[in-house]
Amino acid sequence: MQWVVLVLVLSISGSIVNVFGEAMMINRCCNERLANSSTKPYPGVSSDSGRFKIALFADLHYGENSWTDWGPAQDVKSEIVMSRILDAEKPDFVVFLGDVVTANNIAIRNASLYWEKALSPARNRGISLASVFGNHDDMAFEWPSDWFSSSGIPDLVCSEENNMCSSCSFEGTSRSQLMINEIENNNLSYSRCGPSDLLPGVSNYVLPVHHSCQTNNDSPPLVLLYFLDSGGGSYPEIISNAQVNWFRTQSSHLNPKMSIPELVFWHIPSLAYKKVAPPTSSQQDRLFSGGNRKHCVGSINYETVDPQETELGIMDLLSSRPSVKAVFVGHNHGLDWCCPWRNLWLCFARHTGYGGYGNWARGARMIQITEDPFSLSSWIRMEDDTSHSHIYFDGKAFDGMQLISDLGIHHVLSKFWLHFCVITTLDVASSNSQNQIYGF
Ligand SMILES: *[C@@H]1O[C@H](CO)[C@@H](O)[C@H](O)[C@H]1NC(C)=O
Ligand SMILES: *[C@@H]1O[C@H](CO)[C@@H](O)[C@H](O)[C@H]1NC(C)=O
Ligand SMILES: *[C@@H]1O[C@H](CO)[C@@H](O)[C@H](O)[C@H]1NC(C)=O
Repeated sequence: MQWVVLVLVLSISGSIVNVFGEAMMINRCCNERLANSSTKPYPGVSSDSGRFKIALFADLHYGENSWTDWGPAQDVKSEIVMSRILDAEKPDFVVFLGDVVTANNIAIRNASLYWEKALSPARNRGISLASVFGNHDDMAFEWPSDWFSSSGIPDLVCSEENNMCSSCSFEGTSRSQLMINEIENNNLSYSRCGPSDLLPGVSNYVLPVHHSCQTNNDSPPLVLLYFLDSGGGSYPEIISNAQVNWFRTQSSHLNPKMSIPELVFWHIPSLAYKKVAPPTSSQQDRLFSGGNRKHCVGSINYETVDPQETELGIMDLLSSRPSVKAVFVGHNHGLDWCCPWRNLWLCFARHTGYGGYGNWARGARMIQITEDPFSLSSWIRMEDDTSHSHIYFDGKAFDGMQLISDLGIHHVLSKFWLHFCVITTLDVASSNSQNQIYGF
């Protein structure tokens, strides 16, 4: 009897290994390679500025239509957007918020070549970075049907990498392989392949942000950044039950008292975004800041939310933790708002790339963490160097000028207080009763 059971177990696990075997091996390999770099200190607040500033680059869509003049020209423009924003804001960190490349449109085998180009403005400036996957990053190539009509199949496509007699196909680069390439080629990358039991999701990891006075990786961080793979491309647009459980385990281990503020990043908005979205209307301006709709802050609201396929518990979990202050997503190029929902903020980034649909002006959402006094704020920096939609995540929205002068004061205070290295996170976070502040 025992033998029968054993054989059954072996054959079941055998078939699982067949299905996920390759992906799991790549992931384990990725995590092993990473083990050697895990001694790298966590990113943290710079003691000069007293702040940690993050730029969110969303929906860059590199690599589109590389066989035309149009495609490469878009990537050049996206690089200019990123360069301007990085030079104006001088962030400490960049989060690439998915759809870094449009793999369904990349007519070469190795999409990492475009991934590398997309990361280069940050890398060339020595800025640390991390990434999550969007729905386009590992999509299979879609053969343009006009190649098979009069225009013919472009030369470039089959000669560059397929120089053998082998078949000419561009099946896309897997999430795990994209991540391995990113990490191996960028010593400024803090991305992780995530645990193998969360496959096919890959970009699932947590990154602590240090206090300026923190001397090792073991003391409690100032803020925790969570990155989740919201699927799409090679599998459904979803945050799985396994990811929810993983988040629960991680957060209760790293932040059992919910005393450390937490920010969450993924690509595709959850269904809750649809519930809080301001109605789309021609009178956009009246809907934001001071309008009738729950204090949303933003500048464009030109689309309906295109959410994940279903909701399996991540939002209930996040809203049960007062320490979670905001979620940041990309995906909808025509939305850039933050709206309050339960005890946290649901925010869109801002379409950064010239690739992808939509011609709304490009920009990037910025997030700033100051240490002393503790604050969490955000605004959008545009390609033309203007900024707007300033917001504090403790509930007060300001217009641009007020925020900038406020930050000036923060900087002065930070420099003063840093001598004492007062760690105020615990007090600030636990006394921050957001429901009262919003009044809803
Ligand atoms: C990690 O480092 C160890 C010792 O420094 C080395 O032997 C090993 O080959 C490295 N592993 C990888 C995957 O680079
Ligand atoms: C794909 O491109 C990346 C980035 O340039 C490189 O590191 C990697 O070796 C390439 N992989 C293959 C199979 O060519
Ligand atoms: C990171 O990579 C760059 C370029 O490849 C190299 O110049 C630099 O020394 C590396 N830094 C570390 C800490 O390994």
